[in-house]
Amino acid sequence: MCGIVGYIGAKSALEVVLAGLKHMEYRGYDSAGISLVTENELFTRKKAGKLGNLQELLTEPGIPSSNLGIGHTRWATHGAPNDLNAHPHLDESGKIAIIHNGIIENFSQLRKDLTASGIKFNSETDTEVVAHLLSNSLTAGSNSLADAMREVCQKLHGAFTLVAVHADSPDVIVGARRNSPLVVGLGVGENFLASDVSAFIAHTKNALELGQDQVVELRKDSVIVTTFNGEVVQAKPFTVTWDAAAAEKGGFDLFMLKEISEQPKAVADTLRGRLNIDHILKLDELKISEQELIEIDNILIIACGTALHAGLIAKYAFEEWTRIPTSVEFASEFRYRNPVVTTRTLCIAISQSGETMDTLMAVRHAKEQGARVLSICNTQGATIPRESDAVLYTHAGPEIAVASTKAFLTQIVATYLVGLYLAQLKKTISTVKIQELLILLASLPAEVDLVLDTIEEVRGLARKFANNKSVLFLGRGVGYGVALEGALKLKELAYMHAEGFPAGELKHGPIALIEEGLLVVVVVPSPTQQPVLHEKIISNIQEVRARGALILAIAVEDDQIVDEFASHIVRVPHLNPFLQPIVSTVPLQVFACEMATARGHDVDQPRNLAKSVTVE
Ligand code: M6R
Repeated sequence: MCGIVGYIGAKSALEVVLAGLKHMEYRGYDSAGISLVTENELFTRKKAGKLGNLQELLTEPGIPSSNLGIGHTRWATHGAPNDLNAHPHLDESGKIAIIHNGIIENFSQLRKDLTASGIKFNSETDTEVVAHLLSNSLTAGSNSLADAMREVCQKLHGAFTLVAVHADSPDVIVGARRNSPLVVGLGVGENFLASDVSAFIAHTKNALELGQDQVVELRKDSVIVTTFNGEVVQAKPFTVTWDAAAAEKGGFDLFMLKEISEQPKAVADTLRGRLNIDHILKLDELKISEQELIEIDNILIIACGTALHAGLIAKYAFEEWTRIPTSVEFASEFRYRNPVVTTRTLCIAISQSGETMDTLMAVRHAKEQGARVLSICNTQGATIPRESDAVLYTHAGPEIAVASTKAFLTQIVATYLVGLYLAQLKKTISTVKIQELLILLASLPAEVDLVLDTIEEVRGLARKFANNKSVLFLGRGVGYGVALEGALKLKELAYMHAEGFPAGELKHGPIALIEEGLLVVVVVPSPTQQPVLHEKIISNIQEVRARGALILAIAVEDDQIVDEFASHIVRVPHLNPFLQPIVSTVPLQVFACEMATARGHDVDQPRNLAKSVTVE
């Protein structure tokens, strides 16, 4: 949830760390802070609010020049988002500075013990205990900051990435991780630490994955990785496949708009290399044997938020194509119950970041019960894919806006590849049918491109309804997942009451919400491909219209029936019913983005949220 950056080398640490923090701000923006190490001195500044506030503070004269620094952007967990609780936190001597992402679950007891020993705390955070523990460890005889870190980490419970510097050790940064991300960037005569590669991609594409419960010592010419017990380990190197420009706005006002517009390419990248010229599906990267996949007798999809909505849509396709019973669960709920999972369960974990703590914990829970885990993930080397038996990367490129857009479309496409692969192995649908569907999948980038032409029209509609208090979203079948996604986007960006319902459920309660002038967005199925569902949804439209609602229909281009029932219609290309969500979601993304803009909100960094939710 917080963003972490560390730099050691020959450049100005202030500049490198601030530039890195700009790319980390999506992970949290309640406060920001830095510490620079100079000759036996620590220079620390921190400020509540967005990074801009810290940057303003740093225009003061006399900032020391330094080649070693750490920086933090915060998503508050323990303590209000004010200056005092901003990171870095210092020990009593003011020589050790520490930044942290995660939650130290036993901080309360540790704080009591430290307070009883006479230590005075300056903040309400769980993080500050670590600064004092490091200091105590060094006083008690630890040989180095890294030794102290190894000792302290063994006393901590919970999830944490910690990065520390010491004024008396101006040649080293020490990092540690457990259940929270931290990657190393390898430069020439310089090295980097960060929550993700976008913080240092402008300097190097060479990186190292750190494993669980590892400590890293970063010097300008060396990187040493050990376990918490001090055994040296070889970290796994990887090369970042995208470049710095991908993490910039590239002429767009908002990352979200840029990412919406990148969707045709993102979908194409998810498909690339996975369909051969004859449209035979090849998923060589799935490291679960064909025999094991053939023996799978139930599928369990676990995810959160937008990723869960992709899973809900995938369920319809899986059951149709593979005839394997499929359930979809909130990761946070699955984790704390006693599920019926066997060795023939295929657990599919969907996560853009690959770091969502609820999903990670659910993956571990499923594995403990004997399930095989396949993750669908966008972030190379993240924890969830590393702990899965197999991974299918979506290759959507970095998604910076907090609201997920291209991740959603590519997650649906990736789940479909898995569904068709299982169908191919289990022979539940004919080869010809699979090829037909693969050809349709291959045409998706062009279809998404077409739907992007409706952007201006949708923006106009959003501005028209920007003062509404509430919007309802209805769908049926795969359209239900789209309705949920449309409502989630509106809640998180426009801070507006929005609910998604299966249209048939309306009469079982939610219809009481309908009042004169309420906007109801309806995801309308195709009248020719899904005539029964289409008829039913037209009846649902009538029911809400009769009670005064205004209807905005997302309907396929040749659906003329809907014309007389809707106040507004946004047309989308007419596709196979399973592919329809890929195009029907795009106008809803634009709608929420524009609604939030019209209401004066920060679209890329909505309040109270962070991109990567690394706490439970
Ligand atoms: O990184 P993940 O896909 O695991 O994230 C899951 C959710 O936190 C995420 O999809 C969230 O709901 C989005 N911000 C919604 O736009």
